[in-house]
Amino acid sequence: MEKTIAVLPGDGIGKEVVAGAIKVLETVAAQYGHQFNFEYGRIGGVAIDEDGVPLPADTIQLCKNSDAVLLGAVGGPKWDQNPPHLRPETGLLGIRKELGLFANLRPVQAFPSLADASTLKKEVIENVDLMIVRELTGGIYFGTPRERKVENGVKMVVDTLVYTNEEIERILRKAFELAMVRNKKVTSVDKANVLETSRVWREIANEVAKDFPDVQLDHMLVDNAAMQLIRNPKQFDVMVTENMFGDILSDEASMLTGSLGMLSSASLSADGPGLYEPAHGSAPDIAGQNKANPLATILSVAMMLKYSFNLLEEGTVIEQAVNEVLNKGYRTADIASGNESVLSTDQMVEQVIKEIKEISK
Ligand code: IPM
Ligand code: MG
Repeated sequence: MEKTIAVLPGDGIGKEVVAGAIKVLETVAAQYGHQFNFEYGRIGGVAIDEDGVPLPADTIQLCKNSDAVLLGAVGGPKWDQNPPHLRPETGLLGIRKELGLFANLRPVQAFPSLADASTLKKEVIENVDLMIVRELTGGIYFGTPRERKVENGVKMVVDTLVYTNEEIERILRKAFELAMVRNKKVTSVDKANVLETSRVWREIANEVAKDFPDVQLDHMLVDNAAMQLIRNPKQFDVMVTENMFGDILSDEASMLTGSLGMLSSASLSADGPGLYEPAHGSAPDIAGQNKANPLATILSVAMMLKYSFNLLEEGTVIEQAVNEVLNKGYRTADIASGNESVLSTDQMVEQVIKEIKEISK
């Protein structure tokens, strides 16, 4: 199989973790006789510095011409004071919108050997296996008007939470489809006791559920969901929610795996290339120090192989290799506890590669 992958390392640790994930992809290609062509583009702060905008037109074109996109992370203190159109995050939101990546999948799986890295009790997190399905191209992230204004001498500020029925329906359908190949349970998270968008969301969820009689649908208010996630995360299979709730709940859920450094993600559109990125940010405090945990990015390319290229065995081998490396006690700083010895980014990548060669030989 031959595929072209657009690579957007971005800022901070993005470059380091992406470099590691590419080595993993190259190993898989060699082991299974595939060819992956990597085409590099700029996004985020690095693009602001080089091109004057966070999402240059040629980056958009590069992504649209590719079979899948691998993204590192964007952002950093250097650009924090910039006006909105010159912020790195605007580049990330822009590429999501340009590629129509409405479905963000964030799998949260407890790794048994990392039970001690979590701040939560072992019995709470063991065997957790849930999928957060976050709406990614609508809601308050994109709604207009979005402005500061003065009316009758009163200064005020507006963000807009807006959804079309179609946007709500397609993300809910995606969640039900995923539940069909998992444990057939969907928890739809909203704030229907307050927000009109949430009330409509709930109505549409009930409608869509009729097409999936084998799937159990529950509704949960977002504040309760935040609490239930740490009280009893095992009750969840697929959790589907709007953009901002999903942003917040997925960071919270990452702690069930021990570290945000373990959380992978896939962002999918109706037909174009998918985008794969770790759920963590650019971590400017440790950037350039070869300390970052590359596993979230490596697990993201496993998702790429499965979801975009239908290379199920190859994707699974990467996941198994990560599990094996963790079982053997290898840790980066963010997941080390007690007196475990700490590996650098590169060393962790090497261990994963060694394991992939071992499993696939
Ligand atoms: C994420 C990030 C982004 C988001 C930021 C960087 C704009 O937090 O992917 O979860 O809020 O979507
Ligand atoms: Mg986030």
